[in-house]
Amino acid sequence: MKKTVFTILSATLVLVTSATEASLQAGQHGGNERDGNNEPRLNLVADRCVFILATGQSGSTALMDALNQLPHYLIRGEQWAAFWNIYESYLNFKWTTTEPLSQLKFNWTAYQDASLETIKRLYDQEAPREKLPWFNEFPQERIIAAVRSYYAVLYGYYGQSFVSGFKDSRYVCGRSFTTDRCAEFFNGFLPFLRSLCNKVKVLFNSRASPSLAANIKLYDMDRSRSEEDFLKDLNETHALYDSYVAGNPDHAFRVFYEDMFDPLKNATLAMKILNFLDEDPATPIRFNRMPASNTPDS
Ligand SMILES: *[C@@H]1O[C@H](CO)[C@@H](O)[C@H](O)[C@H]1NC(C)=O
Ligand SMILES: *[C@@H]1O[C@H](CO)[C@@H](O)[C@H](O)[C@H]1NC(C)=O
Ligand SMILES: *[C@@H]1O[C@H](CO)[C@@H](O)[C@H](O)[C@H]1NC(C)=O
Repeated sequence: MKKTVFTILSATLVLVTSATEASLQAGQHGGNERDGNNEPRLNLVADRCVFILATGQSGSTALMDALNQLPHYLIRGEQWAAFWNIYESYLNFKWTTTEPLSQLKFNWTAYQDASLETIKRLYDQEAPREKLPWFNEFPQERIIAAVRSYYAVLYGYYGQSFVSGFKDSRYVCGRSFTTDRCAEFFNGFLPFLRSLCNKVKVLFNSRASPSLAANIKLYDMDRSRSEEDFLKDLNETHALYDSYVAGNPDHAFRVFYEDMFDPLKNATLAMKILNFLDEDPATPIRFNRMPASNTPDS
């Protein structure tokens, strides 16, 4: 079993290495090094990433397609907030490796490069004296490395100058970010997203206004919610987008649906987005390449 897992990991490593070389950055401890008799640590990291977080029915598919007109971009589509689950998994790992008292018995920072023998020795020393239901030796660094590898293997493996990413309309208040704790989850998830790759930029896409009139198509998708609850969540999502972009203009940018489809504004918007992404602003991209039936309000 162990051998099989090792073989799969090695095969993945070879596959990824031959496909991308330089995009696999050496990690803090020198990359995929061996540690005693341990299996090699995978420490794969995608280089440049762009994530589109959207409120839904706001042109995010057209925005994704505009970016994908750049030859070295591949932004994937909706994935049912899959990275929300990864974020929760990360939080669970983090909690189980720091909070419970029995974890405090071991200073895992001192053992983060320790061999299997060392870890087993710590375990065997303690186990006859005390129950260790929370024994997880992963240091924080390994949890982050695992998350980054997960992203890199799935999304980031076409080379260093390649830009990967995804767009998703579920990272909003009332969906992934529970209504009552929206700001808390949003403010935790964004740093997590930023840790996925070496360089991360985020586009926040919505209608210009969080009003019902501007977002009626979105509301119509799920009428089970009251207008009041819907608008409260949407309003808070807009406010979080706005304040995040105001505070982080280096890696966050706001894109309004109305500007994307306004012939007087769309060329300027395209240039601003390209500038923001450090791409040539003269690159011809357009928001209306996809068939009209696939774009909202068409
Ligand atoms: C844990 O180990 C690290 C690395 O050896 C050391 O710098 C740190 O002071 C230790 N922390 C405690 C609480 O002993
Ligand atoms: C919408 O959010 C703003 C803060 O951005 C707040 O001042 C306003 O009261 C909110 N409106 C509703 C209807 O929730
Ligand atoms: C802007 O809109 C006009 C009119 O629909 C269209 O011809 C042009 O391609 C659009 N430009 C961009 C950057 O989407």
